[in-house]
Amino acid sequence: MLNQLPINKIIKGDCIEFLKNLPNNCIDLIITDPPYGDGVAYGWNNKTIQNNKDPLINCLALAECYRVLRKNSTLYNFTNWKHYPFLVEFVMKYTKFKIRHLVVWKKHNFGLGWAFRHQYELILVLEKGKPKYNLTNFSDVQTCSHINHNKINHPHEKPVDLIMKMIEHSSKKGSLILDPFCGSGSVCMACKKINRHYIGIDIDKKWVGVARGRLQLNSIGGKND
Ligand SMILES: C[S@@+](CC[C@H](N)C(=O)[O-])C[C@H]1O[C@@H](n2cnc3c(N)ncnc32)[C@H](O)[C@@H]1O
Repeated sequence: MLNQLPINKIIKGDCIEFLKNLPNNCIDLIITDPPYGDGVAYGWNNKTIQNNKDPLINCLALAECYRVLRKNSTLYNFTNWKHYPFLVEFVMKYTKFKIRHLVVWKKHNFGLGWAFRHQYELILVLEKGKPKYNLTNFSDVQTCSHINHNKINHPHEKPVDLIMKMIEHSSKKGSLILDPFCGSGSVCMACKKINRHYIGIDIDKKWVGVARGRLQLNSIGGKND
């Protein structure tokens, strides 16, 4: 089946539409960092995150994610404390995922904010069936530095090292990993480093270009190009 899928490509398009074209049960692991729906603006350096005011975008993608994910597999969903209650309620009421755990990503330094400066993010762990886990030292508090926001990078770029650990925990060499909201392609970078296949999707041509640049792909990324 692998050769019928757009593997090791970054697709430009709306993931909810794109996922409808993928067959059932074709993905071994999903790791994704959707817009949190909190409307935080990144006006400087002309950076924007599309759908960042829409708390439903993450939820709507989950239904398609469940269908394409292989049985006995995991989905890691980055989120924050504001979006978390809405997301969990949606998962419990409207999806077939089982909530397995909540991982806290603790950053070495605090970032933006005022009275309560941000030093952690959340990763909701969802299961389809009964997945296996490979590592015996995977804590539910992961400590890893955040990526500093500069003029060029994605304002929500996630650390490749942190993602590699999740990949190692929940997949094996040659597995196919999906990131439907891939931004600048950090999940795909992690896959490339440790010999997994990937499919990355992003709606914004700017971030698609950055992701393809990091992965050294040419611009032929998919049918929506
Ligand atoms: C939080 S960012 C992901 C950043 C990424 N983790 C990284 O390391 O660069 C979320 C991304 O979702 C994309 N996005 C928003 N709506 C989308 C949709 N319907 N389909 C695909 N991508 C979408 C945005 O363009 C944005 O780049």
